[in-house]
Amino acid sequence: MELKYNTSAGVNVTELFKGDSQNSELFRYAEDKKLFSGEIGQVFTHLPFNSSKEAFLGLGNADEFIADTYREAYFKLLKDLIGKKEYEFTISIQDDVELLKAVVEGLYHATYEFDKYKTLKEDKEQIRVHINTQLSEKDFNMAVQEAKDVIDSIFFARDLVNERAEYLYPETLANIAKEKLSAVGVDVKVYDEKQAEEMGLVAFLSVGRGSSRKPRFIVMKYLNNPDAEEVLGLVGKGVTYDTGGYSLKPSDSMTSMNSDMAGAATVIAAMELVAKRKLKTNLVAVVAACENMVSSSSYKPGDVIYSLSGKTIEVDNTDAEGRITLADAIYYTTKELGVTKVIDIATLTGACLVALAEDYTGALSNKQDFFDDFKEAAKNAGERVWQMPMDNSYRERNKSRVADIKNTGGRFGGMITAGLFIEEFLADKNIPWIHLDIAGTSYLSMPYKYQPVNATGVHVKALYNLLNK
Ligand code: BES
Ligand code: MG
Ligand code: ZN
Repeated sequence: MELKYNTSAGVNVTELFKGDSQNSELFRYAEDKKLFSGEIGQVFTHLPFNSSKEAFLGLGNADEFIADTYREAYFKLLKDLIGKKEYEFTISIQDDVELLKAVVEGLYHATYEFDKYKTLKEDKEQIRVHINTQLSEKDFNMAVQEAKDVIDSIFFARDLVNERAEYLYPETLANIAKEKLSAVGVDVKVYDEKQAEEMGLVAFLSVGRGSSRKPRFIVMKYLNNPDAEEVLGLVGKGVTYDTGGYSLKPSDSMTSMNSDMAGAATVIAAMELVAKRKLKTNLVAVVAACENMVSSSSYKPGDVIYSLSGKTIEVDNTDAEGRITLADAIYYTTKELGVTKVIDIATLTGACLVALAEDYTGALSNKQDFFDDFKEAAKNAGERVWQMPMDNSYRERNKSRVADIKNTGGRFGGMITAGLFIEEFLADKNIPWIHLDIAGTSYLSMPYKYQPVNATGVHVKALYNLLNK
């Protein structure tokens, strides 16, 4: 896609809020026949053979307009025009850098496809968008570049999540992280099974034991603000395939479990974005990557396992494996990496989907102002997050008769008990912590706004916004 500054060609697009009118024959026609109401992303086109090509783009209610309206509207515009085989058009937008970025993001979102396994591909036409604005060419170019960088990282996360487990497993995930992140100045260390054992990551290793694809422990560091004491730690769930283990998943639930490393994908892609944009900040990230498989060497329901923290865990259900891998990963992150705040992000529970569907990420936090900052960052990214309660009464449900803690808390409040399990493995209980359950929001069964079916790359942008201050 080519984005051109202050030129025009092709279909001429006019933005209209609900209730706006235009003094033109075409508008009166559309109004008369009730063909255009101005809903967000509604497109009305007039594309004749030999006169001017015109389109109206709806922006919804003027008093509800936010940057995300632009993402949605311009996503839908591009999809609509591509459907009509129109690949060149002109738009005019308000003189606001943030809004320009939203427009550009929306346009790019419309170009995402995961078609690497389609052997018959349609030829892709070059798209040309002429953007008219009062912004200077320098501001224009900078905004376009930033939006493009953000989108590239979101697409990187999506591609990782959409990739099949046959090709993306702990070793290959680690290789990709190393290659992509080293290129932008991130220090990446990858520990294999033997090294992870020496480090004491025994809970994590129990989960991966049943697979011939051996675990990798990935530690990424981007320390670019020596003046600040703040270091944010990110911990991403990296289960590259989740069969459930001996607590086997039914096949319908298992099919999409190549996406059970979406937290890892978000963390790696956010790290890439922050480094690529050279943010003056300190960020470290950890992914404990493994496959949850069934074999004679797998861990079993009823096992009691040790962990890096020293706490023992009763394995009530081998399908609640994510929290076990995260127990070691978050303990390591908060004990060894000098972080002052930590966020874990994981496709952790079906219970989160039951509670919030695919619409909201479920969240827990022990520090309200930290969570509020994240929520604001997510809102500006067009990402929805909902905080759950974490009263002490919920903690009772994770208690074990034989070990220090149990890896399930029963059927009720499953998203909360899973998050509270992870909290137990903070090396310091006072460290500000946010838990994000992206089981629903990271992988959609149907498209939403500018997000496609399957991988979304959720929270790459929120994490970037959080650090980009
Ligand atoms: N990977 C799943 C959670 C999940 C479910 C992600 C659906 C995306 C879509 C996780 O490992 C899991 O299976 N959790 C169990 C926990 C239960 C056994 C306590 C669940 O939610 O059923
Ligand atoms: Mg899982
Ligand atoms: Zn599981």
